[in-house]
Amino acid sequence: MPFDIIVGAQWGDEGKGRMVDHLSTHADYVARYSGGDNAGHTITVGDKIFKLHLIPSGIINPDTIGVLGNGMVINPRTLFEEIDKLAQYGIEVTPERLRISHAAHIITPVHISMDAALEKSRGDQMIGTTRRGIGPAYTDKANRHGLRIGDMLNGEVFADKVHSRVKAGNIILKTVYNSPELDADMIAAQFIEYAQKIAPYIDDVSFLLTKELKNGKIVLAEGSQGALLDLDHGSYPYVTSSNPTAPGAFIGLGLGANHLRNVIGVTKAFQSRVGEGPFPTEQFEEIGTALRGTGKNPWDEFGTTTGRPRRVGWLDLVLLRYAIRTNGISSLALTKFDILTGLDPLKICVAYESSGKIHTELPMGMSNLGSFTPVYEDMEGWTEDVTGCRTWDELPSQAQAYVKKVEAIVGIPVKWVSVGPEREQLVTI
Ligand code: IMP
Repeated sequence: MPFDIIVGAQWGDEGKGRMVDHLSTHADYVARYSGGDNAGHTITVGDKIFKLHLIPSGIINPDTIGVLGNGMVINPRTLFEEIDKLAQYGIEVTPERLRISHAAHIITPVHISMDAALEKSRGDQMIGTTRRGIGPAYTDKANRHGLRIGDMLNGEVFADKVHSRVKAGNIILKTVYNSPELDADMIAAQFIEYAQKIAPYIDDVSFLLTKELKNGKIVLAEGSQGALLDLDHGSYPYVTSSNPTAPGAFIGLGLGANHLRNVIGVTKAFQSRVGEGPFPTEQFEEIGTALRGTGKNPWDEFGTTTGRPRRVGWLDLVLLRYAIRTNGISSLALTKFDILTGLDPLKICVAYESSGKIHTELPMGMSNLGSFTPVYEDMEGWTEDVTGCRTWDELPSQAQAYVKKVEAIVGIPVKWVSVGPEREQLVTI
């Protein structure tokens, strides 16, 4: 009963999609367990670039069944946009290929308007959300008046529920945030159409996956966002509203912990972040531009969901050790390694300094992250093009030393190094 979890070990955008795509060739099910269409997974197959926000990246493999777990918040509009887009590429997302938990929550236009209104009200304390309604949808879940996918199976009652949720939302939008009200009749009618289309996809995901694991099938949980954006363990309040860390997969899919085999952490060979919040190793000017790119290439550091330029910096091994601890990561994939080519020296953050004290572990989780100064070690760079490397021996010696340094400091093996966006641009160690 092999159950593996792939998680982002940074602030999201680590290249999880390409690793899921690689590992899902052996998986029967690929399941998302947290978040919603705030995620952005880019997969490059030949001349085709797939950008997915909601449907698991593993759907690209014809023999893999995608699953959306109960821990997710689902915007039906995005779901059907993605299903239509994939159909244009010849990938038919039929109910046989995608199962959706009855207990996942639904994002409505109220949540999206509320997300924008809340951000505006925060002023310079803005979180920099993706404005997809994620926080407000999870707030409704915790408040116990959210709409769930299973509600869609009961048409008339569902229409009334949507109607009353929009009307309740309008009162807050208008009176608290002075924002425009939404058309409850129109939204209810639209959501009835979605309900009819979603019905054949709805399932008890916990039961399905547990049964299949007992049958010896392989299930891969696809993390979204990243460990450092976790609601409990991330850089609160600059976090998302769910638990993207690996333990979230058990809750978010309704699985017991007994099935777990591996937790694979994906980290860039440097660090990036979209949105606000502390970032100790952030770089600007030449290093920043070299790491980010200009936006000309699809792999440059601009958000898949929002198009925003990402903040970039040197690899932070204090945070990586923290992510390994809070997720139970057993092996690492190091992505975007080719971007380091030509930078010399390369810097790696091995510890933090604060008030004359050196910290190799975060003393109080991610609180007060902004108060630390990174302690760097310089590493020799390389100039050789690594994009054609497919084996460990083909990597320049300085590149090998960089990987070895990461392993030595974080204490777990790097099993994959990605050297470009294409499927085959991967060194398996
Ligand atoms: P929200 O998830 O839209 O509420 O946004 C909260 C924070 O998480 C913001 O800083 C977003 O930029 C960030 N975020 C959410 N999803 C992703 C993602 O998939 N990759 C990177 N950052 C994300």
